[in-house]
Amino acid sequence: MSISPAKLAAGLVAAATIAVCAVCAGLAGSVIAHAQSSALYTDAQAQKGVDAYENNCAMCHGANMEGASGVTLLGPTFTSHYETIGDLMQFIVQNMPKNDPGTLSHDDYVDILAFILLKNGWPSGNQTLTFGGANSSRVPLTQASPSEPPPSQAPPTQAQQDPSQSN
Ligand code: HEC
Repeated sequence: MSISPAKLAAGLVAAATIAVCAVCAGLAGSVIAHAQSSALYTDAQAQKGVDAYENNCAMCHGANMEGASGVTLLGPTFTSHYETIGDLMQFIVQNMPKNDPGTLSHDDYVDILAFILLKNGWPSGNQTLTFGGANSSRVPLTQASPSEPPPSQAPPTQAQQDPSQSN
């Protein structure tokens, strides 16, 4: 019994995909090192932030942060109100939820901040955001913009596809 051309092709594609991914994985380390200042939180934190946001913020700021009785938490006008990530974190911890400020756990505040960063186009990474780190962060909030999709959705750059091009 012979292997059909279609099966052979599928096998080759799978092998090629694995080879490409091995290259990606090797490069990921240097990419993360480069993007360290902007990859401030992990996917897991943002994911937990979805629930914490729904339970504590969505009733005033809308299910998608689009704004309701509270203002929108999306876009450049919103982020322009704060110089740094730390400024935003401090505002939230001291003033929100508006009906009961400062009452959430440190973890909930951090996770919600991660979710807000995600929704505003900030990439996630390997670095876990801490409560202290978020409060004292001097990273400018305007660094990422909503028009830039997170890297997971962006097509690979030329440098990622062709390692010979990178030093
Ligand atoms: C009871 C309603 C209510 C809840 C709950 C609430 N907020 Fe607000 N929030 C507001 C209102 C109203 C404003 C408008 C500014 C003000 O009056 O302080 C606001 C303003 C903000 C701002 C400033 C927006 C800007 O443009 O600078 C942030 C950030 C924020 N809220 C985050 C949160 C987060 C995060 C939560 C959940 C932990 C939350 N809020 C829960 C009502 C609420």
